[in-house]
Amino acid sequence: MFRKNSFLLAIIVIGLIACTSKKEAEEAAKKSPTPSEIASKQPEVHGTEVKDVELTNPLNQVWVEAGKKNYDLKCLACHKLTDEKLVGPGWAGVTKRRQPVWILNMITNVDMMLDSDPEAQKLLEECLVRMPNQNLTQAEARELLEFMRRNDGEK
Ligand code: HEC
Repeated sequence: MFRKNSFLLAIIVIGLIACTSKKEAEEAAKKSPTPSEIASKQPEVHGTEVKDVELTNPLNQVWVEAGKKNYDLKCLACHKLTDEKLVGPGWAGVTKRRQPVWILNMITNVDMMLDSDPEAQKLLEECLVRMPNQNLTQAEARELLEFMRRNDGEK
């Protein structure tokens, strides 16, 4: 009887240790800055036109990965990575036919673009759906741009 109890106790203790160390790891992960935090050197300015962007060469792979995550969550439903149209245009070649700043504004300021940019309006005429604002930060948009550049074969 005593043996059985101490065996159970050991399992419980091990379980508790495992849980706490997992918790600690999660806390640590929360504290270390995310790629978005590292990327955003400037304070957040929502709805502000992006006028300038610096392209890295080679690509920032951390941003590529972060961009892919947001693509899977927020863009994949409407955009393919090929040239095939879904709800919106496929992304193949998008970084070749558009300026980087144009792409960033399409992501963070889509209403401004659809209201005033002739190229964006042309797309709207073709697609007949207004791209919804996905509420991404400028840093997240920058990461997505990096992902698009990777998709277009940049290294
Ligand atoms: C509900 C569907 C939908 C979602 C979700 C969506 N888009 Fe779009 N997107 C569109 C449509 C439709 C267009 C074409 C313009 C229009 O009709 O508003 C477009 C156009 C674009 C363009 C211009 C493409 C080109 O060929 O010039 C970019 C860049 C873009 N979207 C980026 C994004 C990003 C980044 C996300 C995810 C964060 C996203 N979109 C999510 C529907 C969507």
